[in-house]
Amino acid sequence: MKKVLVFTSLVAAVVLVASCAQAPTAPVVTAKAFKDGEMAVPADYKSWPTYLSGVQRPDAKQIREIWINPIGAKSIAGAPFPDGTVSVMELYKAKEGADGALMKSADGKLVKGDLLKVFVMGKGKGWGESAPAGLKNGDWVYSAYLADGKTAAPDPAVACRGCHLPLGESKDWVHRYDEYFEKRKT
Ligand code: HEC
Repeated sequence: MKKVLVFTSLVAAVVLVASCAQAPTAPVVTAKAFKDGEMAVPADYKSWPTYLSGVQRPDAKQIREIWINPIGAKSIAGAPFPDGTVSVMELYKAKEGADGALMKSADGKLVKGDLLKVFVMGKGKGWGESAPAGLKNGDWVYSAYLADGKTAAPDPAVACRGCHLPLGESKDWVHRYDEYFEKRKT
């Protein structure tokens, strides 16, 4: 009889907790675990803090613009970026002259042409679990879009992972990590 009573009150407690969780006043937990290719380009990324601007990539015949969301901008040098960090990178074609050589502006910089692609990476608790074996970059996941920011680009996520992997845990698998914190100081 006693056992039954304990069990009944346990059930009652569980029901109570469950109904509390569904109450409209409870905070809504929307932290969806994204996998590669699932994160969309955030609509407001151009209003985010700059990660690095005008990154010169003559080798790729490109110029890149990188933003980091306000959560990521709270990061501390030497520590990993917090969960909820999202970074967006725009990849622009560097203009070429009639002779095929890369054009340079008066200050020696590459000249920005058309936007080619938009890359997104974000991290959240446990997201890395979906990574293919041997290509887990912490909890980061990756997406790639064409210039419209909506059409998926053909770039496979395993390529993203493979090229960010060597940065390792000490740089949180993020390129130009030291450069970012150096620049942010100023
Ligand atoms: C061949 C190497 C390589 C590949 C492949 C690659 N990246 Fe990167 N990524 C870089 C480098 C290097 C940077 C730093 C900016 C620069 O020098 O162009 C970077 C920077 C970034 C950034 C800005 C934050 C940071 O880490 O500095 C994002 C976002 C990003 N990459 C996403 C992606 C996505 C998404 C893919 C796959 C679709 C991808 N990358 C594939 C090398 C690579």
